[in-house]
Amino acid sequence: MSNSIKRIGVLTGGGDCPGLNAVIRAVTKTAMFKYGLEVYGIEDAYLGLIRNRIRPLSSGDVSNILTTGGTILGTSNKCNPAAYDANGDGQVQDCTDRCIEHVKLNELDALVCIGGDGTMSGAASFVEKGINCIGVPKTIDNDIVGTDVTFGFATAVDIATDALDRIHTTAASHHRAMIVELMGRNAGWIALHSGIASGADVILLPEIPYDINAVCDHVTQRSKKGKRFTIIAVSEGAKPAGGEQVVAKVDPTSPDPIKLGGVGNVIADQIQRITGVETRCTVLGHVQRGGSPIPADRVLATQFGHAAIECLMHDHANRMIVMQNGQVTDIDILDVANKQRTIPADHPLVAAAEAVGTCFGV
Ligand code: F6P
Repeated sequence: MSNSIKRIGVLTGGGDCPGLNAVIRAVTKTAMFKYGLEVYGIEDAYLGLIRNRIRPLSSGDVSNILTTGGTILGTSNKCNPAAYDANGDGQVQDCTDRCIEHVKLNELDALVCIGGDGTMSGAASFVEKGINCIGVPKTIDNDIVGTDVTFGFATAVDIATDALDRIHTTAASHHRAMIVELMGRNAGWIALHSGIASGADVILLPEIPYDINAVCDHVTQRSKKGKRFTIIAVSEGAKPAGGEQVVAKVDPTSPDPIKLGGVGNVIADQIQRITGVETRCTVLGHVQRGGSPIPADRVLATQFGHAAIECLMHDHANRMIVMQNGQVTDIDILDVANKQRTIPADHPLVAAAEAVGTCFGV
């Protein structure tokens, strides 16, 4: 059992997702109640470390937050401590030493970094300079390597499935092809799971480049069979075979500058033009990240937050908490940075969806 850890810092980084507060609560309560540690909250991800915006958390601060969306600490997906535009003049500089000064000034013996691959990369730069960081993987995209699942994903799938279900009834009424564009960056997990859960007729994923003619054939075949509507779940990262992803904007201030979006409307225009079937697109957007986590994410977040403190107190340094084959365990945090877990082409869910007639646009 570690005797050297008395005070820890906790931060949330990257895009928010449902369940962040549940992790903060589990980390803080486990640290305080079980081990008598002091917990400090770092505001707005690594920005709070750069600017020394760090404050003690009380048990009251983490009461009644299990079910709430967002993060009480704030977050940022614009702040890479190794390359940050600290003066707002467009010139990035390495701020890791400044962060480490603030870790020392606040006498933090370890950091719990709750975030995605960008946050883990930031943590890796501190680990390399001797700061003990424990990572907790979050993202609606479910694309962090080493873990079978991230918290936030199940809630996003729930929201996306609800949207697809609702689109179903209006598509049927109007005899339309209806597209729902879903988040996920370069991983199609949200579209795959919600597409299967809602019985989407077509699912388009970044991992399986589509042929627009195959999609249109599917729409036409359904019409010929008397099915007068088609539901299409499109991942924002989907791209045509031999073509490119659709980029909504480039944000040079973000460590993840490419913001995907727009492919749904591109496909809608093509389907309407090629098949003559009236087609509409709904872009679900950030609603997938908002609101209360569903129970499965509250449970997972609590398990992960608790495990982060157990990991620290059992002297496991520089680990990221993961779920592997139904067991919570941990892996080297340095093995995670700058990697993405995408859907393998031979994934059993793809095979199951194909078996029930879902078209992947090939
Ligand atoms: O990584 C989470 C995510 O919601 C992605 O699915 C999406 O591509 C991206 O973040 C959107 O980023 P932003 O919040 O910067 O628009």
